[in-house]
This record gives sequence, C-alpha cells and structure tokens, in this order.
Amino acid sequence: MILVTGGAGFIGANFILDWLGNPSAEGIVNLDKLTYAGNLATLDSLKNDSRHIFVHGDIGDKELIAKLLKEHQPRAIINFAAESHVDRSIHGPAEFMQTNIVGTFNLLECACKYWNSLEGDIKETFRFHHVSTDEVYGSLSASDPAFTEANSYEPNSPYSASKAASDHLVRAWFHTYHFPVVTTNCSNNYGPYHFPEKLIPLVILNALSSKPLPIYGDGQQIRDWLYVGDHCSAIREVLAKGKLGETYNIGGWNEKTNLDVVKTICRILDELKPRADGKSYKEQITFVKDRPGHDRRYAIDAGKVERELGWRPAETFDTGIRKTVQWYLDNPVWIEGVVSGSYRDWLQKQYN
Ligand code: NAD
Ligand code: TYD
Repeated sequence: MILVTGGAGFIGANFILDWLGNPSAEGIVNLDKLTYAGNLATLDSLKNDSRHIFVHGDIGDKELIAKLLKEHQPRAIINFAAESHVDRSIHGPAEFMQTNIVGTFNLLECACKYWNSLEGDIKETFRFHHVSTDEVYGSLSASDPAFTEANSYEPNSPYSASKAASDHLVRAWFHTYHFPVVTTNCSNNYGPYHFPEKLIPLVILNALSSKPLPIYGDGQQIRDWLYVGDHCSAIREVLAKGKLGETYNIGGWNEKTNLDVVKTICRILDELKPRADGKSYKEQITFVKDRPGHDRRYAIDAGKVERELGWRPAETFDTGIRKTVQWYLDNPVWIEGVVSGSYRDWLQKQYN
C-alpha cells in the first residue's frame, strides 16, 4: 500500500490513474477532503478496483491519519493535498495556511511517529514524498538562469509562501528527526482533469462557450509547462530512486508566454472545432486587470533529475497541449460535473 493525499485533485488523480493503470501495482489509500478542487468523478473508472481505497478526510485530522497509518501500514506517503490556486490565495489566504502549512505539519508528525514504530525492511525503505512548486523560488527576469535546486526561496504570493513553509517543515523533519523525505518542485502542470480555474482549461472552456479569454496584464509573463503525465512519471522515479533529504526540480523544458499559450490553444481549436462564424477563437482574447504581485517568469532547470535519476519529460508543449485540447473536447460530461454553481460564483468574483 501507499498513502496518497489530495488524490481527488488534478495531479493526484492523474497520478492514481497512471499508477493503477499498471496491473501489478500495489494499492492506494487516497485521503482527500473533497474541497471545490476535489472531484471523485475523475476516479470513476476505479469504482470496481479494490486497489483504490478512498477516504474522505483532512490531512489536519491527527486521529484519522494515525488510524489510517496503523490500519494500512503504507510503505510510502505522497503528499499532494493543498490549496493550489494563486488567485484564490489572494482573495482568501487563511485556508492556504491551514492546509498547506498546518496540514503538512500534522501529516509529518503523524507519519514520523508511525515510521518510528516500524521495524526492519519497511522502516528502511519508507518514503515521505512532498509535492511542491517552482513558485517557492520567486520570480525571474528574462535573462536570469532557470531555477535550480540551489536557488534561495523567495515566495511572493500567499500560495507560494504557504508552500515554501511546507517545504521547510519537510526539510526540518529530515534534518532533525532523520525522517526519510524527498521533495519535488515542479512547474505549471496541464492535461486532462484540470479544474477550469487555471489558465489552460479556463481558456479552452471559455473559448468553446463563446466567452472572453482573459489575459492578465500584458500576457508576457512566462511559465514553464509540464504535461501532467510527465509529472506523474517523474514522481514515480523520484519515489523509487530519489536520495533521501534531496529536492528535485521537475520541469517540461517548455517556457512560454501566457499570450503564446492562449494563441496556441486558439489555433488548435480553430483546426479541431472551428467557430460557427468562421472567425478565429483569437477574436475572444481580452486583456484584463493584472493579478496583484504577478510573478513575471518561472523557469525550471530539470537537469538534476535527468543526471541523477535519468528522468526527462516525454511530451513537448505542442504534443501535450494538443492532447489536452482534444481531451476537453472529448469529455463534456466531466466538464458539466465541475462547472457547478460554486465555479460560476468564482468566475463572477474573479472576472466580474
Ligand atoms: P488541486 O487543487 O487540483 O487538488 C488539491 C486536492 O487536495 C483536492 O482534491 C482537494 O480536495 C485536496 N485537499 C485540499 N485540502 C485538503 C486537506 N486539508 N486534506 C486533504 N485533502 C485536501 O491541486 P493540484 O493541481 O492537483 O496540485 C497538487 C499538488 O501539486 C499541490 O501540492 C500543489 O501545490 C502542487 N503543484 C501543482 C502545480 C499545478 O500546476 N497544478 C504546480 C506545482 C505544484
Ligand atoms: P495559473 O494557471 O493560475 O497558474 P499559476 O498562477 O500557478 O502560474 O496561471 C498561469 C498564468 O496565466 C499566470 O501567469 C497567470 C495567468 N492567467 C491569466 O493571464 N488569465 C487567467 O484567467 C488565469 C487564470 C491565469
């Protein structure tokens, strides 16, 4: 068994689907609070798979975590659970501090206690894998080299500050208690089952429903884009072979401006599902008020994980974004399930 937290969210669910896609893979206990970002419909195909055990709960619930660890004796924990959206962290940071900092602290305490109670092989090989973000490193200028694992932490948003704090806790548990941890810091993920509050799915869905495609500021902010399937393979690699106490940057080697990303999506949609009036989806691009404190550029140097563990992403941005657009065209039922009242409230609050 392994214990996955936040496995009903975008990356966690993709990870579970990939993992259990291997018929000989061990089972997963999936602990998720089912916030607005958690969606069990994503895991529908596992309904009859006894290797997936879903538990509705909070990483901040000590008693529940202790009970789950005792009952299932996992050989590893992968912590995906988090509040993950920068714009929401600007409107309401409290939940981010609670889950990302206090929740991670709680999980570490319970997991460390459990690990101390183990003996033999399972104790030797146990791993706590913490999933984090490149946003902890702050913002780069156009000419700065990409982030390496040696960059100092300079988080700028409530979200990135809360993730940075969680990374520090994980590091401290290794140094102080010799708790066996690895941390990965990845760039912007995209792919199937992505909640449409983030740029790529939001733009695809807005384009298809004839709504504006909102670009913050001048659209020249740069992000590195990592296909979620590649991220999942990187996590498997680091979990299996990563050195304890180390951090690994995971990136797609795909730096793009936001405007380029949106234009690429429009081009693919023009080809796969042309607008009824024959015009390009680019006509829907609208420049809107910038995000406060908007980081200008993130870029990941993923050289360490390639040199030391032999991992490189399989997708280019062109192949990954085409698969992603096609996935959203092919999955209207999943989309209908997430575009609920609370999602519409968020759009109203953020985009007026
Ligand atoms: P997500 O917001 O889609 O999913 C988060 C999941 O965690 C949801 O299912 C939610 O219900 C669950 N959750 C929230 N609070 C919880 C709690 N207190 N207890 C248990 N479950 C809880 O996020 P994601 O995009 O899948 O991101 C997963 C992880 O990867 C996060 O730690 C995030 O910081 C990190 N990350 C994401 C990206 C990205 O581009 N999406 C990039 C870098 C790092
Ligand atoms: P997002 O997907 O929210 O991820 P993050 O903030 O974690 O990088 O945003 C990606 C980029 O797209 C970021 O620079 C903000 C920008 N953006 C827009 O321009 N318009 C939007 O409507 C959204 C949601 C994001």
